[in-house]
Amino acid sequence: PIALYGADRKNSMGINLANENDLRQLAEQINQPLRYTRATPLVPGYSPSGTAQPITSPQDRRQKVGEWVAADALGVAKAIDNAQGAQSDWDQRPVAARAALLEHAADLLEGRIAEYMALCTREAGKSLLDGIAEVREAVDFLRYYANHARKLMGQPEQLPGPTGESNQLHLHGRGIFVAISPWNFPLAIFMGQVAAALVTGNCVIAKPAEQTNLIAYTAVRLLHEAGIPEAVLQLLPGDGATVGAALTKDARIAGVAFTGSTETARAINRALAARDAAIAVLIAETGGQNALIADSSALPEQLVKDAISAAFGSAGQRCSAARILLVQDDIADKVVHMLAGAMDEITVGDPALMSTDVGPVIDQDALNMLNAHAERMNKEAKLIKAVTLSDSTAHGSFFAPRAYEIQSLSQLKREVFGPVLHVLRYAAKDLDAVIDQINGTGYGLTLGVHSRIDATVQKIAARAKVGNCYVNRNQIGAVVGVQPFGGEGLSGTGPKAGGPHYLARFVTERTLTINT
Ligand code: SER
Repeated sequence: PIALYGADRKNSMGINLANENDLRQLAEQINQPLRYTRATPLVPGYSPSGTAQPITSPQDRRQKVGEWVAADALGVAKAIDNAQGAQSDWDQRPVAARAALLEHAADLLEGRIAEYMALCTREAGKSLLDGIAEVREAVDFLRYYANHARKLMGQPEQLPGPTGESNQLHLHGRGIFVAISPWNFPLAIFMGQVAAALVTGNCVIAKPAEQTNLIAYTAVRLLHEAGIPEAVLQLLPGDGATVGAALTKDARIAGVAFTGSTETARAINRALAARDAAIAVLIAETGGQNALIADSSALPEQLVKDAISAAFGSAGQRCSAARILLVQDDIADKVVHMLAGAMDEITVGDPALMSTDVGPVIDQDALNMLNAHAERMNKEAKLIKAVTLSDSTAHGSFFAPRAYEIQSLSQLKREVFGPVLHVLRYAAKDLDAVIDQINGTGYGLTLGVHSRIDATVQKIAARAKVGNCYVNRNQIGAVVGVQPFGGEGLSGTGPKAGGPHYLARFVTERTLTINT
């Protein structure tokens, strides 16, 4: 087992890649055509009036992998009515019963890893290794939050009081939660938000990213199969401007769990605040402008390996990904040379092949944004290396991973969500200024540090305002219950997903005083 997150539960193991037989079977299953699915709203008593839209694969836009139907305003209203009707019963179910349903869902999901990996590969362009990690993380969230909710809510906390008086603190669900999830972790983050809200006694209306409706639809069906009532967990596919906006302006929504851009988090915050209603809670995990600092004591081989996986792994489409490599000038030439050499070994192509390191980016909009950034960098910065794309990438949204040397952090105004690494040299005497500049971006998600000097590591860790700091390893792939994940400042409101304080945001506290 890779880790323990509690006395009685281990993290999911996923698939043993050392077993050639398992690997072959997995490849066969993943390369079978997907069962054709239509992702529709899952709202009891409502049928959408809109027409179905095709879902195509980012790897090859000629491949149709399913279709989806958007919800409209009627669907939003019906979903909220349904949730309102179901809320009290769900909240009053013992937490152990709710937790057991999540654990059942975890077992079902773990048993269908190949099906979900295939979905992640075809709909979201995830590589096989990313697909395994995705399903594992989703399973981990289900089990971790189930386990944690039992501990948190199993018994009311007994409080002191004078003789003849009993004081208890009870935790309840807040009410109806909206879960707005991203396409880059279409199963794991989706499941994490939904599981946390459900297990703490909230009804959930899920509005997944439009790019990954199929995965969300299949996941909600699995949760229903596991026993979550259909009015307690509903799905509303649709775009943010209609479905998302209609949900967040409704006075009956008690909270929103959101992962996505900082701009959208701000818009949700404004919408919630503008309601003539109780103040809703917003749990937002947003972007990053993540740095990796390497001083001259860093081991170059390890540094380059970690920089490559953190910058280009998952096609750079992780909010935790390394965007800026700050390298001390004494070792910079050597590191840049090794980085360029190592990038020659990166294979970009079909995400369903084990030999592929980097798959496509999610869609044409993402590709356009990356191409525009590359055009600007080609003028303003020095290209260190761009990976060569093979012919097999011609029909998909592929972007060649690349590294640039820049002169100043001010050249990067905003997060570039894709496989682009920006290298910036610094002099040892400027380390404090470098930390200030990183803090000055306002983001605070991940920071990598490569240094063998303990005092330097301690100084950086103490001063950097980031949620997750990783020393002498890569800065992606936080493990549930092991590295609670989430940022501060422009990167999110906290608390951390997969950490011991996450569920506290989803509950309301009630003190019960009885004169005995
Ligand atoms: N949790 C992911 C990671 O740690 C990012 O969302 O890489």
